[in-house]
Amino acid sequence: MVESAVQRGLEDVVALESRICFIDGKGGRLIYEGYDIRELAARSTFEEIAYLLWYGRLPSARQLEELTTRLATLREVPAPLRRLLEQVPESSSPMDVLRTAVSALAVYEPSESQPGANSIGGAQRLTAVIPTILGEFHRRRKGMPAIRARPELSHAAWLLYALRDKEASELESRAMDVALILHADHELNASTFAARVTASTLSDLYSSVTSAIGTLKGPLHGGANERVMELLEEIGTPEKAEEVVKAKLARHERIMGFGHRVYKVEDPRATILRDWSRRLGETRGDLRYYHLLREVERVVHREKGLYPNVDLYSGSVYSMLGIPKEFFTPIFAASRVAGWTAHVLEEYQDLRLIRPTAQYVGPVDLHYTPLELRE
Ligand code: CMC
Repeated sequence: MVESAVQRGLEDVVALESRICFIDGKGGRLIYEGYDIRELAARSTFEEIAYLLWYGRLPSARQLEELTTRLATLREVPAPLRRLLEQVPESSSPMDVLRTAVSALAVYEPSESQPGANSIGGAQRLTAVIPTILGEFHRRRKGMPAIRARPELSHAAWLLYALRDKEASELESRAMDVALILHADHELNASTFAARVTASTLSDLYSSVTSAIGTLKGPLHGGANERVMELLEEIGTPEKAEEVVKAKLARHERIMGFGHRVYKVEDPRATILRDWSRRLGETRGDLRYYHLLREVERVVHREKGLYPNVDLYSGSVYSMLGIPKEFFTPIFAASRVAGWTAHVLEEYQDLRLIRPTAQYVGPVDLHYTPLELRE
């Protein structure tokens, strides 16, 4: 057996070349296709970012209008999928429903899902339809009427409308747009890697995104913001933050929303969402979440030297936008689908089967014992 160093969790392993996204973990910078996330979050829209990730350049005004119209016309859920969504148990986790729906969509739309030919079409279709899938399931659980198409709404406003059934204010739409921009891509995170591994076998786009959704579901990746809100509920008031957080750390529990495999300083997305958490709180005249989170930050940094990641403030932003907690991770998926699909398209262009090796640590010289002789 050849001895080799195992990089647990593939930490620091450079697995492939990509021109989509760059994370400067020491400098706390995030770059999409050459553009700094701070500038994109301040000035662009999710539709522009989707174009940027898929085509590698910012769209012209005409290209942006075409894409916006196309996404708006691709929002409908096909009738058989609508019937399937009517049958899933109401108690299902929205991430399970989303994963099932995206997988099922490939059965109803086989031409869109195949590798190669029209993968950008498939990427647009998935991006456009995910908010509708989530809205359909949410409304069914709430006994609300079926969703009515609103092609005039931006992607962010449509997502909010799908999950609330009420018009979003300009500020609310902008907050959602910024959250979508911030989550659209993040280099070779676990779900994107899963999507690329699937695509590298020459499997189809919808299978790749199905793999990605299943990977995003875990609390160490996409599910952390929901847990952050549970922590805030447990803490209640800023004065109790110290006691609750220290007790958790003493039990060696992880505090969700802190730490990152790549960032060694503050995640720039957390900086932007902190500001939005404060802005929304001020508008509502309720800065409770903001003050609580600031206090948790102070204690965690002092006790463990950890910095916030994107998930620390996103939950508070979504809560103030009126989105139910169990839809926080699906919203992450509604944005990251742009990045997943961009990475799958990139994988198809320079395809190499992703297949690492394992360091075998078991025995090699055992002999087969017939069943009747085994104890
Ligand atoms: N709370 C308490 N301790 C922590 C935390 C945390 N959130 N994160 C890291 N640590 C500690 C960990 O216990 C370990 O300490 P020690 O060396 O004493 O055992 C040390 O820091 C290194 O941790 P690690 O698990 O080796 O680091 P990692 O690179 O594998 O972890 C992480 C990255 C995100 C899984 C981890 O920081 C974590 O579990 N965070 C909480 C979950 C979370 O917020 N996830 C969202 C990530 S951002 C969204 C995304 O891009 O997916």
